[in-house]
Order: sequence, then structure tokens, then C-alpha cells
Amino acid sequence: MSPDSIHMVVVGAGYVGLTTGVCLAYLGHHVTCADKDPEKIALLKRGKSPIHEQGMEEVMSLAAPRLAFAERAPEVVGDADLVLIAVGTPCKPSGQADNRYVEEAAREIAAGLQPGRSYTLVVKSTVPIGTNRRVAHVVEQTLADRGLNGKVKVRVASNPEFLSEGTALQNMLYPDRIVIGVDNPESADILRQLYRPILEQTFDPPPSLPRPTAYSLPPLVTTDPISAEMIKYAANAFLSMKISFINEIAGLCEKVGADVTEVARGIGLDPRIGPRFLQAGLGWGGSCFPKDTKALHAMGEELGEPTLLVDASIAVNQHQRQRAVDRLQDALKGVRGRVIGVLGLSFKPGTDDLRESASLDLIRLLLEREAHLRVHDPVAMEQARTLHPDLDIEYCSDPYSLAQGADALVLATEWPEYRRLDLGRLSASMRTPVLLDGRNLFDPTAARAAGFTYIGVGR
Ligand code: UDX
Ligand code: UDX
Repeated sequence: MSPDSIHMVVVGAGYVGLTTGVCLAYLGHHVTCADKDPEKIALLKRGKSPIHEQGMEEVMSLAAPRLAFAERAPEVVGDADLVLIAVGTPCKPSGQADNRYVEEAAREIAAGLQPGRSYTLVVKSTVPIGTNRRVAHVVEQTLADRGLNGKVKVRVASNPEFLSEGTALQNMLYPDRIVIGVDNPESADILRQLYRPILEQTFDPPPSLPRPTAYSLPPLVTTDPISAEMIKYAANAFLSMKISFINEIAGLCEKVGADVTEVARGIGLDPRIGPRFLQAGLGWGGSCFPKDTKALHAMGEELGEPTLLVDASIAVNQHQRQRAVDRLQDALKGVRGRVIGVLGLSFKPGTDDLRESASLDLIRLLLEREAHLRVHDPVAMEQARTLHPDLDIEYCSDPYSLAQGADALVLATEWPEYRRLDLGRLSASMRTPVLLDGRNLFDPTAARAAGFTYIGVGR
């Protein structure tokens, strides 16, 4: 074990925890990923990834000598220096993030700590502001119940994640910045040691995850825990607001005959705006934006500080789905009894994650209007069958069988393989060749030349 190597445990082996643990093991630390889900742990022990992330199984196998998996956190934290919490923080009905699992993990970790040792406990999960204080209290309480008051030194820190699904390992190894929220120098020191290979980019890139050209060393933002927790929420709220902004402009573009993709290009060239996250479409989904914007709204209500912009972003985002259905309804003169093929189920390309997927929202709206739904997705169909057996939809093995005799096609997730579809073949096989391009993936001129009635978003 090299002197810089840290012995650590990651509690929660989901999209965030597994990516973090596997990459840190690859970088030279000794990592045990603990997760309550026995099936997940069994799969991981066989070197298989429970999630679809580019490079995950390659890096898992490269990191194997320093990577272990366990079900029970208390059994593996005792001789660790650092324990990282990355369990889920789902929404409560109020919209507040539910800390139940974070506190449960803190309790379990405290149950396994050894007297005479000191630990850094790092909260990576996205948590309501002030959770650091609650975690410290839960740990203290549990240690007191074990009669270990004052016998175990535990420092709690915050280290929010900025991973985007589909590019999670790249985001981890080549981040824009690393944020740590600490209130003592020891926590800052061990977190700097943990991330040194990333801060200095001294590691050899995994073969399938090369260092981006012109990538510059990421800054380390060292702040207090509360500000670190707020950085995470503010980042996601701003990104989702930027998308809702361009979607609002898209609605106006449709009315005046402008092309929102041109408008996005034109404003994105202003470095104060930037070109990314200006892709108009069905709006945002995933496990983060919906959850984090709701949590900020709930926080604002709780603290008597209205979050008007966040609330408007949420409203615009929900309306995007409805607008798409209305435009389809107009084109088909009613959707009842129509056969509609939906291309793409996952909330974004590159992942099999269906959480808050705009495609599923659209499918539900169309089912409510008694359309017949056919669906295809390159990777997420199994997940959809398992997680949403209630959906009365027909799964198709390929886009061409999905289009056969259909009244409309909806492009809901911009998987790259859909760009290469033979539009002429698709439209010729349909009863009424209507194409709703929910992510502006296709070229409208080419689609119309192929025989489609083309409906874009904002153009
Ligand atoms: C989620 C949120 O998406 C993210 O915003 C937050 O920062 C962390 O939680 P994610 O990795 O996507 O991240 O969650 P998920 O894929 O649901 O993984 C959570 C894992 O924790 C699951 O595998 C679950 O089995 C595990 N878990 C949950 C525990 O091990 N113990 C618990 O008590 C609860
Ligand atoms: C996001 C943040 O990007 C990441 O930094 C944070 O850590 C977690 O949440 P993620 O939700 O995985 O990551 O994916 P992202 O690429 O941000 O897309 C989120 C949603 O926005 C998707 O539904 C996507 O389709 C949508 N989107 C994204 C748009 O509609 N338009 C865009 O221009 C970009």
C-alpha cells in the first residue's frame, strides 16, 4: 500500500457511490463498497456492473486488487481512515430530500467504529443544508450508546458530487472542480490526499477513458460544509433553469417561425452564457434535477424565502411534456386509437436510468388519451419491463418494426444510433408519417424530404 493510499469505505454502491469507489480504487486507494442490496453486491463480486456506465467494468477490473464489496457497513468500517456516504436521498412528499438513508448509514457506520482511532466521515450524497450537523449528532449519539463517548474521533465533512450519468467516470477522473466542505484542517488534509491523483492528474488514464485534450488541472474549492452543500443545489438548480429558459424561448420560436437551435447557437457564443445546456426538447429528467429543484423549493418554503426562479423552471419543465402531446394531437387530429412509436426510454442517452424520464411522462400522457404505444430503447427496455410492468406498451426489438403501420414516431431520447436511421424507409412503412422530434435530433429538411410531417421543438 503506497504511503498516500487511503483505506476507505463507500456506503451506497449506486450511480454515485460505485463510480466514486471504483475510480478511487483505480487511483491507488483501498476501497470497500458497502451496499444493502445483496443482489447488487453479488453482481459486483462477479466483476459485473449493475449500472450502464461507459468504462465501469474495465476500471473495476483494473482496480480489482484494491476493490472489495460488502453488504454490512459496520463490519468493514473499523480499520478504515475515511468513510464516504453515497446512499440515495429520495424526495419526501413535501419535496424535501429524505435524509432517512443518510442517517441510517451514519448510524451503521458509527456502530462499527473502533475506540482509539480517528475517522473522517464524508457526506457525498446530495443532502438538505445542515445535514452535516445532523450526521455528526447521529454519530455522537450512537457512540455514546456504545459507551464510547470521547473514545473515537470522528470528523464530518461534505464532498458533493457533480457526476452526469453516461459520463460518470470521466466526470470523476477529469472534473471541472472538486468541492470539499470542512471545518478542521485534518479533514482538508485527508480529502486533499484522497483526490491528489485527480488534482495533479498523475494517474495513467484507463484505456477507454483517455484524458480529454486541453484538460486543465481542476481547482480544489475548500469551503465550509454548509456552503459545499449549497454549491451542489445551486449548480443543479442553475443548470435546470438554463434548460427551462431555452425551452421557454423554444415556445416563442414556434410562434414566430424562428429556429431555437440557431438562437441557442447565437446566444451560446457569448462566453457569459456558454453553449452547453441550451438544447431545447422534452425537458429534463433523471435522479438529480427533479429531486434537487423540489428540495430547493421545499427549503425555500421552510425558511420563508420563496424560490420563484426554481419554481418557474419546474413549471416550464412539466409543461414541455404537455406541449409535445398537444402538438402531436394537432398533427394527428386526436391520438385516441392511434399507434404511436416512441424511440428512447432512458432519461438521457448513455444510461439505462429511467428515473423521471421525460419519455415515460410522455408515454403516460399518451396512454391517458388512449393511444396505442410501441417503444424501443437501445439499453433500457429490460429496466422498463421490470420497473414499470403497469405500462400497457409494446416493446419492439428495433425502430423499423416499431414504425410499421404506425401513425406517428416520437424521438424522446437522442441515442446516437437513432441519428443513423433510414428516414425514407421509416416513413414509407407508416400509416401517417408524422415525426415528433422531441430532442431536435434530426434535420427538418431531410425528414420532410423523406416524406415526414416534421414537428421539432422550437422550430
Ligand atoms: C443518489 C442521488 O441520485 C444523488 O443525487 C445523491 O447524491 C446520492 O444518492 P445514486 O447513486 O443515483 O445517487 O442513488 P442510487 O443509485 O439510488 O444508489 C443508492 C444506493 O445506496 C443503492 O444501491 C442502495 O441500495 C444503497 N443504500 C441505500 C444502502 O446501501 N444503504 C441504505 O441505507 C440506503
Ligand atoms: C446532472 C448534472 O449535469 C450533474 O452535474 C449532477 O451531478 C447530476 O445531475 P444528469 O442528471 O446525470 O447530471 O444528466 P444531465 O446530462 O445533466 O441531463 C439532465 C437532464 O437534462 C436530462 O434529462 C437531459 O435530457 C436534459 N437536458 C440536458 C436537456 O434537456 N437539455 C440540455 O441541453 C441538457
